[in-house]
Amino acid sequence: MPKGGRPGPAVHSEVLFAPDDLAEAAQRVAGAIEDSVGEERPLLVGILKGATMFLADVMRARPFDCQVDFLSISPFGQGRVRIESDISVDIEGRHVVVLEDIVDTGLTLTYLLGTLRSRGPASLQVAALLDKSVRRLVEVPVQWVGFEIPDVFVVGYGMDFEGRYRNLPEVRMVHDLMALADDPDLLVGEVFAP
Ligand code: IMP
Ligand code: MG
Repeated sequence: MPKGGRPGPAVHSEVLFAPDDLAEAAQRVAGAIEDSVGEERPLLVGILKGATMFLADVMRARPFDCQVDFLSISPFGQGRVRIESDISVDIEGRHVVVLEDIVDTGLTLTYLLGTLRSRGPASLQVAALLDKSVRRLVEVPVQWVGFEIPDVFVVGYGMDFEGRYRNLPEVRMVHDLMALADDPDLLVGEVFAP
């Protein structure tokens, strides 16, 4: 049986990072966060929904004393975003680490960091699983990166295309984004067991 019980060969996507790679990245990033603010009871803020798996792996890779919260954002025209659902913790004087799935143009993070910074945290740092820095439109500080990737579209391990594929335990690279845009279910047959 093919690995994971997958039917047939994958033709529209391929594995870019396997679960072992992702576990290593989470371990590495967790170690870096612990070294930086592990003594300060940091607040880890996961950006919904993409960062859920990364946050879950980072927060238990090193069991240091921390708090966890989430926020969600939604697009708001012309590359702008707004907070749809906010964290429920006062971050004034706190050490905050934002966890993101992927930084692309940097617009989302720039907006978010501006908003969080205005609340007076003691420190505000960012950990991103993936960094597509070649696509950056605005410079934004990302302290810790799991992996640098080229300009490719990825799904899995929290990341979606039109709500699909988030639950894949690996990160897959999509070969033809236009084809996926035409048919968002394009990968279903090759990545999910029947
Ligand atoms: P930015 O504002 O362009 O940096 O957008 C970042 C957000 O776009 C990420 O948090 C993802 O939600 C989404 N995104 C960017 N690239 C990808 C990708 O390759 N796959 C899935 N989502 C992506
Ligand atoms: Mg995101």
